[in-house]
Amino acid sequence: MDLLNLDSVNTMTIDSVLAWLHHLCFLGMAAALAMQWALLAPSRPGLPLAMLGRTDAWYGGLAGLLLVIGIARVVWGAKGPDFYLASPLFWAKMGLFAAVGAVSVLPTLHYLRWRKQAGRTEGFQPGEPEVAKVRIAIQLQALGWLALPLLAAAMARGLDR
Ligand code: HEM
Repeated sequence: MDLLNLDSVNTMTIDSVLAWLHHLCFLGMAAALAMQWALLAPSRPGLPLAMLGRTDAWYGGLAGLLLVIGIARVVWGAKGPDFYLASPLFWAKMGLFAAVGAVSVLPTLHYLRWRKQAGRTEGFQPGEPEVAKVRIAIQLQALGWLALPLLAAAMARGLDR
């Protein structure tokens, strides 16, 4: 790379800033998912419904931001859109991201319903079978999370070329 070429320096700066933001978003999402898992532990005496709702809102908000930043990386990243759009691994990553997003709807709907019920009935706590269902949804998302960085690393290195 010609270090005096301002265009390539700019591209690399944008690429680095977007990569930094991308990492911050998914690290934050992983933290929010882990926090939900801890808050839903069967050993807890009562579920902190408001905190679960806030944690889930962070998870969803960061997922939206991650999507926007991911798209920005595709469009303005150093490799250019053609690299990604022609990559099966990129599309596999997008498919898995969408699948994890679809699974995350189940906990969100439960948290919303629980909070509504808690507003009507003082001291309301959800039943154990429902909590167990939400914990399974979180485990499924965690499985997706195991594969997402692997797909990302393989995609970045053009393993499908
Ligand atoms: C939870 C979801 C996601 C995770 C865990 C994730 C993870 C990663 C990781 C670890 C990298 C760095 C790969 C490396 O350089 O070794 C990366 C790069 C990248 N990701 Fe994601 N990502 C996620 C979602 C997305 C989404 C939704 C998009 C696009 C809409 C996206 C687009 C990209 C792009 C364009 C790169 C650059 C790859 C390169 O350097 O060529 N990612 N991702």
